[in-house]
Amino acid sequence: MHAIAIVNAGPDYRLELTEVEVPRPGAGQVLIKVAAAGLNRADLLQARGKYPPPAGASPILGMEVAGVVEAAGVDCTAFSVGDAVCALMSGGGYAEYALAEERCTLPIPAGATPVQAASLPEAYFTVWTNLFDTARLQQGETVLIHGGTSGIGTAAIQLCAAIGCTVLATASGPEKVARCRTLGAAHAIDYATEDFVEAVSRVTGGHGADVILDMVGADYISRNLEAAAIKGRIVNIAFQKGAVAQVNFTPMIQKRLTLAATTLRGRSIAEKGLIRDAVLEQVWPHIAAGRIKPVVDATFALAEAGTAHARMQEGGHIGKIVLTV
Ligand SMILES: NC(=O)c1ccc[n+]([C@@H]2O[C@H](COP(=O)([O-])OP(=O)(O)OC[C@H]3O[C@@H](n4cnc5c(N)ncnc54)[C@H](OP(=O)(O)O)[C@@H]3O)[C@@H](O)[C@H]2O)c1
Repeated sequence: MHAIAIVNAGPDYRLELTEVEVPRPGAGQVLIKVAAAGLNRADLLQARGKYPPPAGASPILGMEVAGVVEAAGVDCTAFSVGDAVCALMSGGGYAEYALAEERCTLPIPAGATPVQAASLPEAYFTVWTNLFDTARLQQGETVLIHGGTSGIGTAAIQLCAAIGCTVLATASGPEKVARCRTLGAAHAIDYATEDFVEAVSRVTGGHGADVILDMVGADYISRNLEAAAIKGRIVNIAFQKGAVAQVNFTPMIQKRLTLAATTLRGRSIAEKGLIRDAVLEQVWPHIAAGRIKPVVDATFALAEAGTAHARMQEGGHIGKIVLTV
């Protein structure tokens, strides 16, 4: 089968089409004939040699796909050959066929195309587990989403709005800020021209954000503590601006805050399976009803994976970039 290989892993990596063996499903795994594969920021880091796949994962890039079940291993009970599915994987998605754990596989939501379905697993598993499991976000609370037009951000804004939270979001530039509002943010803050701490205080009447989802880090770590409400919960899913910071922790003790950070990829299949069940129950109905719309920025053919990476690296995208196979 065709798959994408990383050539010269490092800052000057290239992505090239290559020929590899079709993988065979083990117990509890399904083999998916891939129609579309979602891109993630982590793929760019992995190609640069900065984010090795977890032990046992495919060395091929790609953490989410949509397609049709081609074969099912022993012990598979939920899906059969021919089912239209999407899945979260630890790797292997940039290929014509990919293996997924059945516990991390979902039916394609009603009304979604394979391209749209491939854009969903990584974003909604991440958003669900961080905002609802870790940060215990409740209906009616105020949530601040940094990186509002990222793949993660566009998912988070829509899901939080759909469950009845007041959503605040940050993004850079008027176009991205406007898009955050269209997606359901009550207030969108242009972080390039406005201090988000002051803006959050102003638009919440001094209350602050009950929950903050951050992927920026560095100075945002201190500023999030300032922007949080009493008993606020802050979750970091990345430190794009830096993981080292000088932090004034005084607001933590004064406001009884919780600061957490998590990653999804290295978790056990059992843990990801529980997140999958919650996503199927809590998110998929919103997609089927049209309250949440997958946000696909652009599609590229599998052989154009390098161009797709360049688009994400350049940072002009809004939502998800998807490879078609
Ligand atoms: N922990 C986990 O389990 C997990 C899972 C999935 C993703 N992630 C992480 O979540 C992040 C988003 O992933 P993605 O695939 O959705 O990426 P993406 O679409 O490329 O989005 C990156 C976002 O980060 C924002 N950003 C970057 N540098 C910034 C800065 N200095 N200040 C403010 N905003 C900044 C960008 O905002 P502007 O364009 O407005 O500048 C953009 O919205 C990535 O860092 C990814 O590694 C973590």
